[in-house]
Amino acid sequence: MGVKEFATYDIDKDYYENFENGPKFSGNFPNLGSLKKESFDFFGKSIDFPLGIPAGLLLNSRWIDFYSKMGFSLLVYKTVRTRKHPSHPHPNCLFVKSEMLDPFNLPYQLVAPVGYEPSSVREVTITNSFGMPSMDPDWWQEDMEKATIAVREGCAVLGSGVGTYQGTRWELIRDFVTVASMIKETGVSAVILNLSCPNVGDGEGLIYTDSELSKDILREVKKAIRDMPLIVKVGFMFGKPLYEFVRSVAKYVEGISGINSIQTRVVTEEGLPALGKGREKSGVCGWAIRECAKLFTKELYSIRQKLKAEFLIMSCGGVTDSNSFYDLIESGADVVLSCTGAMFNPFLALEIRK
Ligand SMILES: Cc1cc2nc3c(=O)[nH]c(=O)nc-3n(C[C@H](O)[C@H](O)[C@H](O)COP(=O)(O)O)c2cc1C
Repeated sequence: MGVKEFATYDIDKDYYENFENGPKFSGNFPNLGSLKKESFDFFGKSIDFPLGIPAGLLLNSRWIDFYSKMGFSLLVYKTVRTRKHPSHPHPNCLFVKSEMLDPFNLPYQLVAPVGYEPSSVREVTITNSFGMPSMDPDWWQEDMEKATIAVREGCAVLGSGVGTYQGTRWELIRDFVTVASMIKETGVSAVILNLSCPNVGDGEGLIYTDSELSKDILREVKKAIRDMPLIVKVGFMFGKPLYEFVRSVAKYVEGISGINSIQTRVVTEEGLPALGKGREKSGVCGWAIRECAKLFTKELYSIRQKLKAEFLIMSCGGVTDSNSFYDLIESGADVVLSCTGAMFNPFLALEIRK
């Protein structure tokens, strides 16, 4: 038996079918009463456990409601834009056959063999490529607000947004300000800006590698949303680039979240682009990026100490079981998020909170 059977997101169907019909689940909701509690204050809201789902899996309010009932406590609504934006075509996710990635020696390419499906949820590694689709703001604002109202006690809903590049740096900054302000209006507990999507063109995805642009965006957004907690989502980095990034943005944000999936070439066994022509590179996430997430978290924690800064560390990358959750906590995370792990094992929170 493969891992697809229990997945809530059906990777054989396109984004829109999953959006309209998911999550796929036929069991009973668990009794959350007996789960371990480690309550903490998340910007004024009491959260019952530092485990959540980052932007990606929670396509709309139905997905948020589902995963809150499965014991996850911080729920990030998938990244939205100031305008309707289409998803990349099917396929959007493929299984990747990979060793654990060495953070100091990332591979040139990885292989997604046609028809390959891992047998263990713990070792599931995928590539995902959506291009950050978005519904029209009228639609997602109403739905995001619905998600915040419906969620159970002990949970918080966060809204993730991205600016759309239209040709100039200033327009991009303005669009980040607009999307963050629109998210704030929905009543979420925090805004997360994604500066790191590996699956988009026009430089939208690599903003975090430019500390100056990141600082300009976050400063302008903070000016606009004021008391609303602002979190920045970044991709994998360590050493000097991470230090420079944090030093530039720390005073504008209440949290730093990472890592995003790791961008690389993904090919079939014959060496052809696995997602098709034009999508030669895509983001890899799940089990194989665990060590990268650990290194990132340790470095971020040590930089926070060095700078005597106070931002929250929200870590993700490769959490597919209880050990990997505690590894990131021990590395310095305040909160741990799981996307690929939760996608293929909807009972992951129960395992971690036993
Ligand atoms: C299906 C899928 C969709 C994703 N979409 C987004 C997104 O819209 N915005 C974002 O910031 N990250 C997105 N991500 C990246 C995740 O938030 C996360 O950073 C990455 O997958 C690493 O965590 P993981 O190993 O637990 O999956 C997506 C990941 C997956 C698997």
